[in-house]
Amino acid sequence: MKRKLTIRKATLEDGRGIHALISKYAKRGLMLPRSLNNIYENIRDYFVYTNRKGKVVACAALHVVWEDLAEVKALAVEKDYQKRGLGSGMVLACLREAKKMAVPRVFVLTYAPSFFKSQGFEVTDKAELPQKIWGECIHCPLFPDCNETALVYEF
Ligand SMILES: CC(C)(COP(=O)(O)OP(=O)(O)OC[C@H]1O[C@@H](n2cnc3c(N)ncnc32)[C@H](O)[C@@H]1OP(=O)(O)O)[C@@H](O)C(=O)NCCC(=O)NCCS
Repeated sequence: MKRKLTIRKATLEDGRGIHALISKYAKRGLMLPRSLNNIYENIRDYFVYTNRKGKVVACAALHVVWEDLAEVKALAVEKDYQKRGLGSGMVLACLREAKKMAVPRVFVLTYAPSFFKSQGFEVTDKAELPQKIWGECIHCPLFPDCNETALVYEF
């Protein structure tokens, strides 16, 4: 890709693009679905990358959950834009923000554990994560038989 990867914080204008991208993968069971309402409520968590036409083709969110813990959520890269460093760029943007906020641990619940391992995350037991994180899981259709893997990045 010749164009520089300018990953930036999302604005309200990106909300519907983020929703469309996540929904595409959620329909295929690769990600949890997220409502527009949930995306707007958490818009300050999101990073995006838009193509020349202004379409959101990659997104991710860093959500603080506790005094020493944050979560990487909603990572998605449009099929035609994969394998160009956008996924790792998104994770890096989240980790940089976590570092800036002095959050020592960042976790992810994912169906793509090998990707996150390649980004420096290590598999952990879900039971190691505070119960507070399961607030969202209760609303998931797969709860309690979730087959996502938990991984943690420690600074
Ligand atoms: C997983 C995903 C975000 C990766 O995005 P991407 O832009 O292709 O990632 P990158 O180009 O930054 O790849 C970085 C490295 O990870 C590897 N990688 C990419 N996807 C991978 C996967 N699913 N499993 C294992 N490794 C993967 C790449 O080969 C690359 O390795 P390299 O640096 O040795 O070449 C993308 O495939 C995606 O959006 N998938 C659908 C949604 C999803 O599964 N989200 C995961 C969070 S729930």
